[in-house]
Amino acid sequence: MAASLLLLLVSCIAFLSSSSEAYDYPPLVNGLSFDFYKSSCPSLKSIVRKHLKQAFKNDVGLAAGLLRLHFHDCFVQGCDGSILLDGSAGGPSEKDAPPNLTLRPAAFEAINDLQALITKACGQVVSCADIAALAARYSVHLSGGPKYKVPVGRRDGLSFATRDDVLSSLPGPTFNVTNLLDAFGKLDLDADDLVSLSGGHTIGIGHCTSFENRLFPSQDSTLDQTFADNLYLTCPVANTTNTTVLDVRSPDTFDNKYYVDLLNRQGLFTSDQDLYTDSRTQPTVERFAAKQSLFFKKFVFSITKMGQLSVLTGNQGEIRSNCSAINSGNKLLSSMADGEGGSNAF
Ligand code: HEM
Ligand SMILES: *[C@@H]1O[C@H](CO)[C@@H](O)[C@H](O)[C@H]1NC(C)=O
Ligand SMILES: *[C@@H]1O[C@H](CO)[C@@H](O)[C@H](O)[C@H]1NC(C)=O
Ligand SMILES: *[C@@H]1O[C@H](CO)[C@@H](O)[C@H](O)[C@H]1NC(C)=O
Ligand SMILES: *[C@@H]1O[C@H](CO)[C@@H](O)[C@H](O)[C@H]1NC(C)=O
Ligand SMILES: *[C@@H]1O[C@H](CO)[C@@H](O)[C@H](O)[C@H]1NC(C)=O
Repeated sequence: MAASLLLLLVSCIAFLSSSSEAYDYPPLVNGLSFDFYKSSCPSLKSIVRKHLKQAFKNDVGLAAGLLRLHFHDCFVQGCDGSILLDGSAGGPSEKDAPPNLTLRPAAFEAINDLQALITKACGQVVSCADIAALAARYSVHLSGGPKYKVPVGRRDGLSFATRDDVLSSLPGPTFNVTNLLDAFGKLDLDADDLVSLSGGHTIGIGHCTSFENRLFPSQDSTLDQTFADNLYLTCPVANTTNTTVLDVRSPDTFDNKYYVDLLNRQGLFTSDQDLYTDSRTQPTVERFAAKQSLFFKKFVFSITKMGQLSVLTGNQGEIRSNCSAINSGNKLLSSMADGEGGSNAF
């Protein structure tokens, strides 16, 4: 009797905390709000949730693909959906993109599928950049992570991300903390944002080419030996196409185990492990490893900051009818805005 009462109490508390969304958010950029589509598309969130819940049942890795897609969209010329355009470097059509830029084709398909469902229900009112932000949020939550609110009202950009844009904006897996702080600092993201957002690596996979700098020509001294032995089984020689999980403890669950990995010298990339090696970020790694609720709280704050980077709002940009292409009426405009038209010659 007492046990079942306790169980009831525990599940009530679990219910309350999962539905309360009691997180701190940074100030919202002008033009974004939590209820932007309240009247124009009241079913938006339930459409995204329902579709992704089913899609993740068939392909658990899709959640990681969608989270990473939103990160790349925001870091490369702002969260404006430019990464979604066919022909955009870093997109699925860029055949010779380096492996560190590979985004899953299934993630792009999921955004287009979501857009079709949303347009059917509400008309052409929701931007692709917002769909990407919402998809990332449901990826986090449906994988076990925090349930947070996403400010919406972003508009879609009119220009492609070039290969140079992508290479210059995205931090690489061989970056140390100094390099990472530089890359994040350029976007007004600080050391806490760096550590909490790197926690995105609690789900998903990486290719050998993204971490073989730690195996060849010689083993990185910060690698745990058993972990290193396993990596050599996955990547026996340099330049293979094999992959492994980013979070060895719970590869498909959004939790704080990524930080526990770092404490055990089992981070996959230099950019992961150095967060623990470097004294500037080590204390935060330790705090997140010890307390998942603190990680969730900081992650929500930082991803909301990231999700507002250089957004287009109001009359800027457009609402795309196809997330993979600029609306035809705006194509001329965008090639004129690009001047000679040479920079986007794909
Ligand atoms: C701190 C700088 C970061 C670096 C250097 C970095 C680098 C990388 C690399 C190299 C991969 C693997 C690519 C491959 O080999 O296939 C990857 C995967 C991933 N990244 Fe990051 N990343 C960073 C930050 C982030 C952030 C901020 C997020 C989201 C909040 C994120 C989410 C992911 C996810 C979910 C995957 C797995 C993707 C999949 O399984 O398809 N990363 N990252
Ligand atoms: C991605 O990897 C390629 C080589 O595979 C490298 O030239 C490039 O600098 C890397 N990009 C970043 C952002 O580290
Ligand atoms: C970080 O890497 C850069 C090269 O990209 C190097 O010059 C610098 O010394 C490294 N910093 C630390 C603290 O290791
Ligand atoms: C890929 O990695 C797995 C272990 O993760 C290993 O068993 C397999 O042999 C590797 N494949 C190749 C081609 O190296
Ligand atoms: C890695 O392999 C690809 C093709 O599989 C090849 O184009 C590239 O030159 C190789 N890079 C190195 C450093 O061996
Ligand atoms: C969306 O645009 C892409 C790129 O132009 C095109 O390949 C695709 O067929 C379009 N999708 C639809 C449903 O029109």
